[in-house]
Amino acid sequence: MTVSRHAVSRLGLALASLLLIPAALAAAPDAERQAQLEHLLVQDCGSCHGLRMTGGLGPAITRDALAGKPRDSLIATVTHGRPGTAMPGWNALLDEQDIVWLVDLLLEGYPKP
Ligand code: HEC
Repeated sequence: MTVSRHAVSRLGLALASLLLIPAALAAAPDAERQAQLEHLLVQDCGSCHGLRMTGGLGPAITRDALAGKPRDSLIATVTHGRPGTAMPGWNALLDEQDIVWLVDLLLEGYPKP
């Protein structure tokens, strides 16, 4: 069997682009997934952080409360939780794009005024 040079270079290109695209630039959740995530935010996150994110068992995670906190550390908190606190990690349920989308939604302010 011979593999054409063309096929080999195409494969090389595909591999290179896979390696070069940072995870953060990968596809954002589609509209249906966004609706599911918003539901989870209110039902699950809201059970600790309050239906309007103003706090309860967990602290407020409104735009004002999160202002100035590094996005990466918030993403890490939602991904892995905070050991020794009630904050669970969500990486078994949500993928990285889901978590990034949720954190950005919170940083923009949820619920929207
Ligand atoms: C069982 C309760 C509980 C649930 C459910 C929960 N959290 Fe938390 N969360 C906490 C607690 C408690 C803390 C504070 C941990 C600490 O003391 O550092 C926290 C901290 C956080 C922080 C960091 C806040 C800051 O000021 O640094 C973010 C962001 C966050 N949670 C988002 C979420 C999201 C998004 C969800 C849902 C996907 C969620 N939480 C679900 C209890 C919860």
